[in-house]
Amino acid sequence: MLNAIGSKIDLSVPSKKCEYYSYVSDILGHEKVQSMKNFTQHGHTSVFQHCVNVSYYNFRLCKLLGLDARSAARAGLLHDFFLYDWHDYVREPGQQMHGWTHPYTALNNAKKYFKLNEVEEDIIVKHMFPLTTKLPKYKETVCITLVDKFCGAWEVVEHWGEIAGKGAKKVRKAVTE
Ligand SMILES: [Fe+2]
Ligand SMILES: [Fe+2]
Repeated sequence: MLNAIGSKIDLSVPSKKCEYYSYVSDILGHEKVQSMKNFTQHGHTSVFQHCVNVSYYNFRLCKLLGLDARSAARAGLLHDFFLYDWHDYVREPGQQMHGWTHPYTALNNAKKYFKLNEVEEDIIVKHMFPLTTKLPKYKETVCITLVDKFCGAWEVVEHWGEIAGKGAKKVRKAVTE
């Protein structure tokens, strides 16, 4: 079972009805993409799950707006395809921080394993706008800059919510026992 955050739809089931799956199945099943499960993005969310969240909601938003939902879904899944633990990221002298460099790393990795179109490349390399200052060329890129931040915030809030919930449970147990 594979869901985006806040959704009950199983995105891992091949189904004629699942337009999203038909767009991303080759990427979802790729060994290197699966390896993003080994790295943490926000709170308890892996980089893989974060990419699924962003990809799915970018797909939904672009579909709603009549934009290129296929490119939005595919590039969303690859937008943080940097394959290292960013918490341990060590800068070389003169090198910029992870926040600035990872869109380029993700784009290089994505190009290594998949054929990308122009929209997808723009989405990946500019998803951190306005942190990275190159202006988005496509509306789909503008969408991911919003969806990425929204999903990141949701993941962090969910994480702290779970911690607070567990803490409250412990306190309740200590008080009532
Ligand atoms: Fe990113
Ligand atoms: Fe992201």
